Amino acid sequence: MNIRPRINRWTTSRRDLIFSPDIKSSLVQPHFVVSGEGVSEAIQSMPGIFRQSVDVLCQTIAEDMALGIKSHMLFAVVDSHDKDPTASKASNSDMPLQVAVAKLKQQFGAEIVIMTDVCLCTATDHGHCGIVHDHQIDNDLTIPELCKIALSHAEAGADYVSASDMMDGRVKAIRDTLEQAGHVSTGILSYSVKYASSFYGPFRDAASSSPSFGDRGSHQMDIRSGYDEAILEAVTDEAEGADIIMVKPAMTYLDVVRQVSDSVTRPVAVYNVSGEYSMVMSSTSDDNSRANLVREIFHSFKRAGADIIVSYHARAAVKGHWLD
Ligand code: PBG
Repeated sequence: MNIRPRINRWTTSRRDLIFSPDIKSSLVQPHFVVSGEGVSEAIQSMPGIFRQSVDVLCQTIAEDMALGIKSHMLFAVVDSHDKDPTASKASNSDMPLQVAVAKLKQQFGAEIVIMTDVCLCTATDHGHCGIVHDHQIDNDLTIPELCKIALSHAEAGADYVSASDMMDGRVKAIRDTLEQAGHVSTGILSYSVKYASSFYGPFRDAASSSPSFGDRGSHQMDIRSGYDEAILEAVTDEAEGADIIMVKPAMTYLDVVRQVSDSVTRPVAVYNVSGEYSMVMSSTSDDNSRANLVREIFHSFKRAGADIIVSYHARAAVKGHWLD
């Protein structure tokens, strides 16, 4: 089966995330997972965000859960000695990301919604999102690697595997892989409309995933492209079986969010990315002014048609009652 509408209804927490109209329920907090124990490293360009080992991360997420933040997106930060040209370690069940997912699912079960980033860039030694062949990112050689990573996340217990690579045809391939392995309740969040943006800078520092040569222009969308291109990507992913369609970045593409949400029937997510977060943090010095900015930004996402908001501000907004 290509499309299983029940996936988004599978648990109370998935339904609250997707279908509840209030902003607080729509939030997803991103996290960076590293190897080791007792590690909590501040990320300089993203105040308040850390790279954490599995033990510390589980503690952080337990505190978030107690605050009422039920949805979490996990990114693997891979040690340089574990990187290689094909990101072969990214699908190992004993890597920190997979271990964290399994632990969190064991602890919180259906109460938590876990999304995991599926891309090669954090585990390739060249930092590209795909397999490089003849100096090009080879689409069709990359797909099987993405499927392996997605399967390992599903096996660990992820609710949604989040394909952020922007290869053509990967949603269908991942859907087929999940179906064949019997993971009929695992969803696919597709970064369908992802621009080759300059707003990802702080993330690439955090995840050490900058390309060592070239850029992401041959797969991520041209920032000058119009609505037709955005709608093409969104409806293609929807037809291939994506359960959630994402637009990224968020603030500079609100018009695109509106176009996409009017063009697809699946729920729409926005990613309020690292550069957008850093702009707010560096232009304010206290929580009051941040609260006002973030509230206004979050309302703009909702007005544009976003059902889900992935944001590094999620924890501070909920903790500080910025949305009440
Ligand atoms: C991995 C990925 C990126 C982001 C999310 N997943 C970086 C990129 O495409 O270079 C960016 C997130 C952010 O900036 O907060 N491909």
